[in-house]
Amino acid sequence: MATEHLLEVTGLAKSYGHHAVLRDVSFSLRAGERLALIGPSGSGKSTCLRAINYLDPPTAGDIRLSGAAIGRRGDGRRMSDRELAPQRAEIGMVFQHFHLWPHLSVRANVALQPRKVRGVAGAKASELAEAMLAKVHLGHKIDEMPERLSGGQQQRVAIARALAQQPKLLLFDEPTSALDPELVGEVLTVIKELAGEGRAMVLVTHEIAFAREVADRILFMDGGRIVEQGPARDLLDHPQSPRLRQFLASLSRKGRSDG
Ligand SMILES: Nc1ncnc2c1ncn2[C@@H]1O[C@H](COP(=O)(O)OP(=O)(O)OP(=O)(O)O)[C@@H](O)[C@H]1O
Ligand SMILES: [Mg+2]
Repeated sequence: MATEHLLEVTGLAKSYGHHAVLRDVSFSLRAGERLALIGPSGSGKSTCLRAINYLDPPTAGDIRLSGAAIGRRGDGRRMSDRELAPQRAEIGMVFQHFHLWPHLSVRANVALQPRKVRGVAGAKASELAEAMLAKVHLGHKIDEMPERLSGGQQQRVAIARALAQQPKLLLFDEPTSALDPELVGEVLTVIKELAGEGRAMVLVTHEIAFAREVADRILFMDGGRIVEQGPARDLLDHPQSPRLRQFLASLSRKGRSDG
């Protein structure tokens, strides 16, 4: 079925026992669009991101990538990991913690991804690793071991790894929140460059100024619900709900006390 949306999330819900963590979350993303997810701690942002590729299978709801239902077969039953693998290959994920293999070189860390998720042969995977590491400005570190890199560099390796699987969609879960402040900028710059290439992305972030700059739209979550969504600048400059106003005010108070 043809669709103008790259990603369509409808009625997404997730509970742990009686604890509803996501409730009726619906949103969509067009090709090349950038969506930022903001909201207080515990509001369900990570759970939402992890539900998209069935890392955290939702309790209810429908997720479609280019029109195809993720994680569900035609008969509605849940797919096995093996059935899910080609769908997950289309979705690159970058986490707060980089999760690089400590015993593998930077090149091998990145090359492993296309080999594993797409079955790309060794030499070709290595070429892809080189190209993607150049893209994140780490061509000169290709033969280093991860422990010899700064946190910002390790996160850029993790971004290169996600890119090397040649995904249609990139998901970032607070990619800079584990970094020392002086290393945040280099990671944000790389993400901005990717956005400039017209890559579709969903970005969970606490960096509101960055969300304003990079995202087309912002989705504000609280208590597992989408409280407000809209064009980035509109939403930040003219918040409609008291809850979003309060959230933005608390961030700017925090910003003033940090800075
Ligand atoms: N495996 C789990 N079992 C039980 N509860 C969970 C589990 N994972 C998450 N939760 C709960 O789900 C809620 C949402 O968590 P989530 O990690 O999605 O929030 P978040 O918005 O990403 O928060 P943060 O900004 O702190 O990363 C929280 O109340 C959390 O305690
Ligand atoms: Mg989170």
